[in-house]
Parts: sequence; structure tokens; C-alpha cells
Amino acid sequence: MTYDSSMPISMRNETTASPANDLRALARQRLIVALDVPDAASAAALVDRLEGTCSWFKVGLELFVASGPAVLEPLLNRGHSVFLDLKLHDIPNTVAGAVRSASALGVRMMTVHAAGGPAMLAAARGALEGVTNPPELLAVTVLTSMDQPQVNAIGLSRTPAEQVELLARMGLEAGIRGFVCSPQEVANLRALTGPEGVLVVPGIRPAGADTGDQKRIATPAEALRMGANYLVVGRPITQALDPAKVAAAILDEMAAVL
Ligand code: C5P
Repeated sequence: MTYDSSMPISMRNETTASPANDLRALARQRLIVALDVPDAASAAALVDRLEGTCSWFKVGLELFVASGPAVLEPLLNRGHSVFLDLKLHDIPNTVAGAVRSASALGVRMMTVHAAGGPAMLAAARGALEGVTNPPELLAVTVLTSMDQPQVNAIGLSRTPAEQVELLARMGLEAGIRGFVCSPQEVANLRALTGPEGVLVVPGIRPAGADTGDQKRIATPAEALRMGANYLVVGRPITQALDPAKVAAAILDEMAAVL
């Protein structure tokens, strides 16, 4: 597969022989497992169980706060792609500094909160200018755990979908092309961003899975059909008795609609 620079990063460098393998490989490049575990040993155990099935891992606040940047090294040494999901939200100068620090860690995607505002987003983007092989900078729109009462409770009168659109338009104007949104807004954001947009979608639940605290959810197939580039899946895989089996079933479901 050839690629151009506008193609989502993990869709590049695919080398596969048969159409079926091609689709499975493509699915694998678009499934990100959220390593929401308390320490490096638990993360290593989970990654061991998923070795050969999954190749993208998300390190979020729980693990990063417990274990620091060192927790990324074993993942990177194994050739996995890492999404550092710290959802930065602070004054522009502080976020720019944190983005610059993160850009040296070898991760391929990282997040800031769009709600930090246009100046913060511009500063975050500016911090990556001149960085060789920078991570894709993603702006988190409205958390997938936020439903209408939660959105109203923080003083917003818009619906979650309207707020997502407002934040995405603001992000695009600040030069951001990557967004995290729920499955319910991904089709609208795809229409807004066009094919250049890198849309990363959590709140994924295979049919019948426990929803937990997630409110705005969809199945893997639905999210892909609506325009997601990447699916983020945590508990349905990480808390399964057989994580690799669940991940493989999700990959099959994804491959069937790719
Ligand atoms: O376990 P579950 O599949 O719900 O995990 C979803 C992951 O996606 C979590 O790591 C969460 O932090 C992250 N996330 C989210 N909603 C967002 C952005 C990130 O659920 N808007």
C-alpha cells in the first residue's frame, strides 16, 4: 500500500498479500487498546496476552501517573504504536511545554482538551512545529461519558452533539485535524473534516458488552461505518477472561466492514 502524508498514520506501511489478510491487518492498525491499569506490571501482563493480536496501545492517566514515561519503553521496544492520552488542559504556555515534552517520548498520538480554547490549541500545535516525526495531536471534544445532564451540569445549554461540533470547528480553525469524539458525532465530524480528519473514537462496545460509565456508545462496525479512523477499546478487552479472544472478535467485526 502506498500512502500520502494526509493518510492516517497507522494506515501507512501496510504490506500484505491476500485481500483477507489485508483487511485484518488494516483492522489491527485501527484498533487501539486502552491500558487503563494501575501499574507497569499489569500493563506488561496485558500486552503479553495481546501480543500478536493488537499493535496499538493507549497509555492514559492512571498508568502514566503511576509509572511515568518509563512505562512507554517496553511498548515501543516491541514495535507497538503508542497513544499517550493525557488530555492536557491548562494555560497555553503550560500545555505547549507538556506537548513538547511528550513529543520526545516516541508516541504516535497524544491528546489535549479542545475546551482549553483556541489559544491553547494553537499553542499546542505550535509546540510541534519543527519536531521531526511529531505525534498526531488530537483534540478531545466532549468526553464519551458525558450525556445531556452531565453537559448541562457544567453550564452548557447545548446538546453534546452541538458542543462537539462547536469544539471541532474551533479546533480546525486552530489548525488541528485530529479529534476524539463519541460514535454519535463521528459522522458529523467526518463531514466537517473531510478525509484529512483523523477521528479517534472511544465509547466502543461490542453487541452485548457492559456499557460501564460510557453513555454515547456504538459497536465497532457502526463506528467504522460512520467514519472513525481509529477505535479505542478498553474494558471490553482488558477485563475479559480472554482479552486476545475478544480483541480478535472485534478485529473480525472491523475487517468485515472495511
Ligand atoms: O473501558 P473503555 O472502553 O470505556 O475505555 C475508553 C477509553 O477511552 C478510556 O481510556 C477513556 O479514558 C478514553 N476516552 C473516553 N472518552 C473520551 C476520550 C477518551 O472514553 N472522550
